[in-house]
Amino acid sequence: MKKKINLVESNLLNVNDMSEKFLLILVFLGFSNAIEWKFPADFKFGVATSAYQIEGGWNADGKGTSIWDTLGHNRSILVKDRSNGDIACNSYNKWEEDVQMVKNLGVDTYRFSLAWTRILPEGYATRVNQPGVDYYNKLINKLIENGIEPVVTLYHWDLPQVFSALGGWTNPVIVLHFANYARKAFELFGDRVKTWITINEPRLICEEYKGLVGDVTENFPLGISEYLCAQNVLKAHAEAYHIYDREFRKTQNGKISITVDMTWSEPATNNSEDIKAAEQNLQFDFGIYTNPIFNFDYPKIVIDRVARRSKMENFTQSRLPQFTTAEKLKIRGTYDFLGINHYVTMYSKAANEPPITKPSVKTDAGGERFRDEKWKGCAANWIKLVPWGLRNLLKWIKINYRNPEIIITENGYADDGTEVLEDDGRIEYYQGYLNATLQAIIEDEVNVKGYMAWSLMDNYEWTHGYELRFGLYHVNFTDPNRTRTPKKSVKFFKNLTNTKTIPN
Ligand code: BGC
Repeated sequence: MKKKINLVESNLLNVNDMSEKFLLILVFLGFSNAIEWKFPADFKFGVATSAYQIEGGWNADGKGTSIWDTLGHNRSILVKDRSNGDIACNSYNKWEEDVQMVKNLGVDTYRFSLAWTRILPEGYATRVNQPGVDYYNKLINKLIENGIEPVVTLYHWDLPQVFSALGGWTNPVIVLHFANYARKAFELFGDRVKTWITINEPRLICEEYKGLVGDVTENFPLGISEYLCAQNVLKAHAEAYHIYDREFRKTQNGKISITVDMTWSEPATNNSEDIKAAEQNLQFDFGIYTNPIFNFDYPKIVIDRVARRSKMENFTQSRLPQFTTAEKLKIRGTYDFLGINHYVTMYSKAANEPPITKPSVKTDAGGERFRDEKWKGCAANWIKLVPWGLRNLLKWIKINYRNPEIIITENGYADDGTEVLEDDGRIEYYQGYLNATLQAIIEDEVNVKGYMAWSLMDNYEWTHGYELRFGLYHVNFTDPNRTRTPKKSVKFFKNLTNTKTIPN
């Protein structure tokens, strides 16, 4: 593989005698022959959002209530600025302007999610809310009219409230209801939507927001509920995949998969114990979701460790529910690509077995995790600039999952509103991560086919409310008009999509 020729780093620019100048000319001639540091022609750039974070119109035109509507209304104490997404960016009304913003970026794709309760207000597929369907039809049609491919997430966390009382994702009945909803969505929009993502970030659903699953934040049985949730998420995903496969693929000809948030765990040293700890952390963080789909069953280390710790805790059986062989076979291979959201890299170090206290995924995972204090950060304290972490992650996926097609469905940087429009930090972040993506494609031959920035515009950042801003476009949330203004990074992105090279 030919390497990138970096003239700036080489000493050749300091030449002052004739023979060296001659050499320089030769290098320039050879340069045209070398691999260009450019994204492949079929590589797709995009931007991403999700329904609850941008739409507003929480009860407009017959929309039903979701768990995030309820949280925002009743339990705002969990949200840093006590805000909610009732209006958010008001995309329910400003969608045409949003499409123009996407178009202005010159991207190929726009990833957004459907609000389940806008389409099926009761959560069940018993009644379709036509105005909700009209809203998404208008949006999808306008995107296509403007040459932008819609990439649609079915579930980005806004569970119909009705399922909360049943235990949300911990109750297996959710599998059937999600499958019915997915079928409806394929029926309604699949003639135009060719890339589907069933579920966004199962770990966040099952582990981070576990309290919301059953609407009982404090009392949720940890170390149990997460695994029940994981199992149902995987079954629901597989069910939707098979419905698409059986009933729609032939006529609609699209592709479908899941998006998983993938934290990279780097061994703290070359010591074999630390290497083992890092691998263990990877498998507990995301392998629990990806291994059943891209390989078979839960990762062995997860099965073994949860069984061992459950025994130590006097459980009569493992807290990790087993799949039947039929279920394992049904989940295996339910992907046409792998969607990854990447934000975090951490070091992993071997540690003593955590003491037996309350069961939790964290203690099941073991190991000690930390960040390098020297890594540059941003307003979101969990996000640091560690582009090599993404590159290592991509290589890991290639090796462990037989080089699947990968779409990076989210990657992004938060400001706190003080950087306002001169978001140089964001540009530096994107330069780093796009370069790592290119290294993975060109030098490691990883099959990455797309990259989507999170996010098109500032929006409702879940429990951080409006305090963290991930947008390429600034949104003024105190202005009733929710005025959008391009940040400096918009220019950077236009340049990127125009040239397929990373602007300096
Ligand atoms: C989620 C987004 C969120 C982003 C930034 C991802 O976990 O999918 O909804 O806004 O991270 O925190």
